[in-house]
Amino acid sequence: MKIAAINGSPKGRESITHLMVRSFLQGAERAGAETVTVFLAEKDIRHCRGCMACWFKTPGKCIIDDDDMAEILSQTEGVDVVVWATPLKYANVSSMLKVFVERLLVFANPFMLVDQTGETRHPKKAPGAESSFYRAKLVAIANGGLGQRGHFQVLSHWIQRLARNNLTEVIGEIYAPQGPLLVNPAAELQPIIADYLGLLEKSGAEVVTNGGISPETQKLLDRNLIPEGIYLQQINSYFKMLLSSVKHPYVNSW
Ligand SMILES: Cc1cc2nc3c(=O)[nH]c(=O)nc-3n(C[C@H](O)[C@H](O)[C@H](O)COP(=O)(O)O)c2cc1C
Repeated sequence: MKIAAINGSPKGRESITHLMVRSFLQGAERAGAETVTVFLAEKDIRHCRGCMACWFKTPGKCIIDDDDMAEILSQTEGVDVVVWATPLKYANVSSMLKVFVERLLVFANPFMLVDQTGETRHPKKAPGAESSFYRAKLVAIANGGLGQRGHFQVLSHWIQRLARNNLTEVIGEIYAPQGPLLVNPAAELQPIIADYLGLLEKSGAEVVTNGGISPETQKLLDRNLIPEGIYLQQINSYFKMLLSSVKHPYVNSW
C-alpha cells in the first residue's frame, strides 16, 4: 500500500499538522506501507484559473506547466490512500490545501451522471487514465487552536463530500482540538501527548492492515487531550504572558 500525505500547513515541517502526520505514517510504515509526505509550504502551486482548457482544449492537461504540480503528481503516483492534512483555518482547510485540491480538476471527467442518490457528479475517468487522487481512499488529519471538536464540522463535511464526488470513501478522520498542546508539552502533559501520538501510530497501522480505523481506536482519538475548562485557562494565561510587554488596549480589556 502506498500512502501520500499532503501537508497544507504554512509551517511545513515545523507544523503541528506534521507532528500528527508523522506518527500516523510511522504506524503505517511499520505495518508495511510505503509513504510520501508533500509539504505544500515548500512548493510553488499556482491557483486554478478556471479556464477549463484541461477539459475542453487539452483534455487531461493543465495550462499551467511551470510550477511544482507535475513533480507532486509524479511523487504520489499510484497512491492507495491520500491523507489530507491541515491546520484548521477559519473552520476550514488551509488555503494552501484548497489551492492544491482545485488543481486536481484536470483529472475529472467533464460529463455528469446521476448517482444512486439522485445527485449529479462527474464520472471517474477510464481506469488507465485516472489520477491516483481520484482513485485513492481518503484520510483527514487536522488540528486547531480552539477547544472543541465542533470546530471541525465543516472540514468533516468537506472531506466526506470530496470523497462522494470523487466516487471514493473516507477511511479515517482524525481531529485534534487543543492542537498547540502537542508541541513542547509541559512535564505533566507528556504522558498524555505520548499516548495520543501512540494512538495516531496505531491508526496508521490499522489503515494498512484493516483498511480503516477501528471504532475502539477512533473513540480514544476523539477524547480531548485535557478538560476544556483547564485548556481555556491555560491558553489564556499563556497569551497573557506573551502580551505582558505589549501595549495595546485589548490586553487590558480582555
Ligand atoms: C488565519 C488562522 C485561522 C485560524 N482559524 C482557526 C479556526 O477556525 N479554528 C481553530 O480551532 N483554530 C484556528 N487557527 C489556529 C490553528 O489551527 C492552530 O494554531 C494550529 O495549531 C496550527 O497548526 P499547524 O502548526 O499545523 O499550522 C487559526 C490560525 C490562523 C493563523
